[in-house]
Formats: sequence, structure tokens, C-alpha cells
Amino acid sequence: MKGIEKRKADHIQVSLEENVLAAHNYWDDLRLVHDSLPEVDLDEIDTSTILFGKKLRAPLMVTALTGGYSVAEKVNRNLAEACAELGVALGVGSQRAALERGDLKSYTVIKDYDVPLVIGNIGAPQLIPQMRQKAFSAEEARQAMDMVGADMLAIHLNYLQEVAQPEGDTRARGCLEAMRSLSRELPCLAKETGAGISRETAIRLKGIGIRGFDISGTGGTSFAKVEAFRSLRMGDQRCAAIGTTFGEWGIPAPISVRLAQVGIPIIASGGVTNGLQAAKSIAVGANCAGIARAVLKDALESAKAVEERLRIIAEELKVAMFLTGSSTLQELSKQRVIFTGPTREWGLELEVI
Ligand SMILES: Cc1cc2nc3c(=O)[nH]c(=O)nc-3n(C[C@H](O)[C@H](O)[C@H](O)COP(=O)(O)O)c2cc1C
Repeated sequence: MKGIEKRKADHIQVSLEENVLAAHNYWDDLRLVHDSLPEVDLDEIDTSTILFGKKLRAPLMVTALTGGYSVAEKVNRNLAEACAELGVALGVGSQRAALERGDLKSYTVIKDYDVPLVIGNIGAPQLIPQMRQKAFSAEEARQAMDMVGADMLAIHLNYLQEVAQPEGDTRARGCLEAMRSLSRELPCLAKETGAGISRETAIRLKGIGIRGFDISGTGGTSFAKVEAFRSLRMGDQRCAAIGTTFGEWGIPAPISVRLAQVGIPIIASGGVTNGLQAAKSIAVGANCAGIARAVLKDALESAKAVEERLRIIAEELKVAMFLTGSSTLQELSKQRVIFTGPTREWGLELEVI
């Protein structure tokens, strides 16, 4: 294996073998207020929602993980089967490998399943010319969507990862304009990869026609740490140092949800591992919770394992709704949220709580 294929395999391996999590999970700083008289039956609670015009049985999305090499086919098949079974959304991993090398199979498998909302994925750095690569065209982006039967295209913002990557693409000038022209042609959302989206960036992105965000904030998988471990294995001291130093860099996920509230849908990812954290994400203003690393091990195992994990997360979300007396997600979104610890400090400082 070499090139992108090796990098994709490394990301999975490093994410499972090393401690790549941020030191602090910011969702755990949030509390919902208990209601001892919910006045709604657990069975009556409705977790369904409409996101980008598609009906989901629960506000959950497995966010971009992988694609483009042999094991990825199994991973994506297992994820798609489970998401279809539970009626939740699926975002595929970066489709760069397929566009550059025509390696389609690990992506097209997704079309074998009836997933209610599928999101394609390409990187913002690939929309402008880089040192070793020309920019993807709108036609190629369209091909990426067709390949997985996508309803929307996520443009991932991953410059923290790129600076800590020995082979990273670090040209960023012109990305916003490139995203503007692509958004005219295709329904795009902007997706971070673990460092969160600020208010100013959210406003700029909405202004160029972006239709939603996956804020992917700090608190879960740290891609700086992933690249630091990978760089160490490759003997690249410079990138290992950068990845380690910036291992906790970024905007806490719950704060980014608040900052990105500019009137378009928000997917909240970055450290969501259970249904209580998913419920908190809805209560702070997200439309859907996104989960990546927490289903990775299951995805390598079987569709049943992913399904079981997601089923428990959906059930826990329902329990959080029950115990706050929320019979719908709209009611959950109006619940009082108590902010504690570092998340409270961020929230007060940025005036979003
Ligand atoms: C192994 C692995 C591979 C990933 N690959 C991609 C990718 O190709 N494109 C992307 O937008 N995000 C990618 N991500 C980022 C996730 O979609 C998500 O934004 C981030 O991991 C935070 O969520 P988590 O804390 O639940 O893992 C990847 C994450 C992991 C763990």
C-alpha cells in the first residue's frame, strides 16, 4: 500500500491503537435539568426529524470515516447497512481516492442500502491547486456525489490536520471562492474535522451559499494527535511536534454549535459517543448529532455491531428526552442547559451562553 491508500489505512489503525482523543470531552461539562414528572410516556417520545428534506428516525449521523482502500469497503458496507436499518444519516469519508485513482468500489457499496440521507465528502484544500495536485472541478465533485447517491456534499475543512501531516496540502488562499462556485452548482455543507467552526467563519460560509454545517468541534478525535502518532511512525519529527503541540487546538464542540447558529442546519460532532451527549447537542442548538470514532471498531466488525451501538445511542437519547419531559426534539431544543467547567468559561468569554 502507498499514497492515499496507506494514509487511509494508517488513520484507522492509529485511531484505534493510540489515544487520539482530546484530553477533555466538552459535552460532559453540560447538564440537562431533571424533570421528575415528565407527563409523557417513554414509548410516546418522537425522536424523528427532517434534515435537508430527508426524514430521519433519530437525529443521528455517522460522519465521514473512510473510503478508498480494501478494508474501507467492508467498513462502508457495515455503516450503510446499519444506518439504513435504523433510519439515520451517513456521511462518507473523503472521496479524493476515488476521484484521483478511480478507486470506486469502497464508496459505491453505499448505494446498495436505503440510507435516508447520504452525504458525500471532498476536502476544501482539494478545491484549489496544491503543490502536487490540480484542483477538482465541479464535474468531479458531482461525480463524487453520484458515486454514493449523495443528497448533499460535505466540503471538509481540515487545515489543522494538513499542517501536521508530512504530505499535507497547506495552500488555503482561494478556498472560500472555490467553495462559493461549487455551492452554486451543488448542495454543499461545510464540515470541520475536529477543530470547530467560529461565528465569523460560519457567517462567511453561509454568505457564499453553504447550506449547513457539521461543526466537528474539539473534544473527540484530535486529528492533530492522529497525525502526530502517524508522523512518529514515519520518523518525521517536525510534524510529530506540530501535531503534539496542537493536539488540543480548536473550539469546543458545544461552543461551536452555539457560534454556528446563523440560520442553517447544524450537525454536532466531535466527542459524541453516547445518547446523552447527543441529547445535549440538540439542547444547545444542533439539528443532528454526528458520530465518527465511536462506531469505528464496530464498523470493522459487522453491520450488526454498528446497529447495536447506534440503537443504544438512540435509546439513550430517548431516555434523556423522557427525563427532561421532552416529547419531541423541538421540546428538547428548548430545555435549559447548565454549562460547567471549561465550556462555561469559553461560553461566557464568547458570549454564547
Ligand atoms: C479514522 C477517521 C477517519 C476520518 N476521515 C475523515 C474524512 O475522510 N473526511 C472528513 O470530513 N472527516 C473525517 N474524519 C473526521 C470525522 O468525520 C469527525 O469529524 C471527527 O472524527 C470528530 O468526530 P468524533 O470525535 O466522533 O470522532 C475521520 C475521523 C476518523 C476517526
